[in-house]
Amino acid sequence: MNTINVQTPIPGPRSRQALDKQLAQESTAVSYPKRLPISLAKGLGCYVQDLDGNVFIDFLAGAGSLPLGHSHPDLVAEVVEQAGTLCLGLDFPTPAKERFTDAHLGMLPEAIRGDYRIHFCGPTGADAVEAAVKLAKAGSGADEIISFRGGYHGCTNGALSLTGNRAMKKNVPGKMPGVHFFPFGSTSTSQASSVLNGAQVDAALLLESALEDVNSGLGNVAAVILELVQGEGGVYVADKDFVQRIYQLTRKFGITLIIDEIQTGCGRTGTWYAFEQYGIEPDIFVTSKGTSGIGLPSSLMFYRKSLVSWPSGSHIGTFRGNQLAFVAGAKAIEVFHRDAVLNNVRLRSEQIGKRLGELQRDFAMLGEVRGLGLMLGVEILNPVTGKVCEATASKIQQRALRLGLITELGGRDDTVLRVLPPLNVSEQTVTEALGVLEHVLTELINDNEGAGQ
Ligand SMILES: Cc1ncc(COP(=O)(O)O)c(C=O)c1O
Repeated sequence: MNTINVQTPIPGPRSRQALDKQLAQESTAVSYPKRLPISLAKGLGCYVQDLDGNVFIDFLAGAGSLPLGHSHPDLVAEVVEQAGTLCLGLDFPTPAKERFTDAHLGMLPEAIRGDYRIHFCGPTGADAVEAAVKLAKAGSGADEIISFRGGYHGCTNGALSLTGNRAMKKNVPGKMPGVHFFPFGSTSTSQASSVLNGAQVDAALLLESALEDVNSGLGNVAAVILELVQGEGGVYVADKDFVQRIYQLTRKFGITLIIDEIQTGCGRTGTWYAFEQYGIEPDIFVTSKGTSGIGLPSSLMFYRKSLVSWPSGSHIGTFRGNQLAFVAGAKAIEVFHRDAVLNNVRLRSEQIGKRLGELQRDFAMLGEVRGLGLMLGVEILNPVTGKVCEATASKIQQRALRLGLITELGGRDDTVLRVLPPLNVSEQTVTEALGVLEHVLTELINDNEGAGQ
């Protein structure tokens, strides 16, 4: 499994059967297979095979949770050995947990390494967000939270309340109160036209004025929660000046700064944590997707030792002690060092950015190329109007799948084609994947379908 091989229409007959059964049995909220109609049989590295034997490049990679690709053999060996020893450890100390904790704390920037505690959260990223918000409130006695437009923090009640996507929230009464949304200060030149109706805003200044204005409507603000690259929101990269000013504002007003590194963490942006590139030291940061390296669930909150100390049992959950995730995650960090994976992130990021830039010049369907490290995306446009176009984006995703490339869409109305490969992806696989994209764009032009009709 090291090259694309699609032999059937998509979905193939066996996938079709599995999808139909899923449709009948599972919740109507199933999401990925609605857009990517395949049934997965196995995965290895950057490639997956469906039930019909078709092989695809997987640039969705478990929604960014497979930094070393599917079933990395070194990690699998650890998991198999650990499975026969101990699988679940609640929050007891175990050798696997100690190894994992040492490895993860060891990845913090040296200057701040001793300053943080690690809190093991329930299995999913949203749980770490919930924990962070609770801790920030407990520490301050304040209860309001500042979040940013376009932000995504998960689907549990609190995390969803902090999320920008209005469609996801509209049928959920009783959300967490006291959340205020401010514009996100992004490096994007198209954000103003595609999101802010042409307004050029100084996002940090807006927040500063609201914090200073006695008539701004804000109550007691406990925390600011911020992604440094908005992934689900459309791959908007935070502007460094914006982030540093937000950081200073939180210092000035005594507000806890929570950085959500659930997607950006564990090497995705080219440094272990994205905040390392912004010259800030968050009070709390959370990470999850990449922590085990192999897609086994684990979710972590790091917080400054100087923050309030939580009484025992303040934030618990049964599945905080996944020993399989721990041994895989500790091994993953060894592999990161051994194989210079962060360097590969930078090299492949340059390769993809350069090629997407060339394609953008050749195809009017491609708009702004954005991202950091291997968290990249390209806006899909209607070439006639020059505006972002959901229908064209969907066609590109569908056709790419049929030619053997799995990609996800994100951003407002799903108009950003996301490039989210495993972090150890090879130059050759990147070339193969972008070859598919070029082929799809050419097909759409030839079929006169680029304008999204
Ligand atoms: C930035 C960010 N925060 C939180 C979450 C929620 O994580 P989970 O889906 O594991 O609950 C996600 C998931 O995509 C995310 O990207």
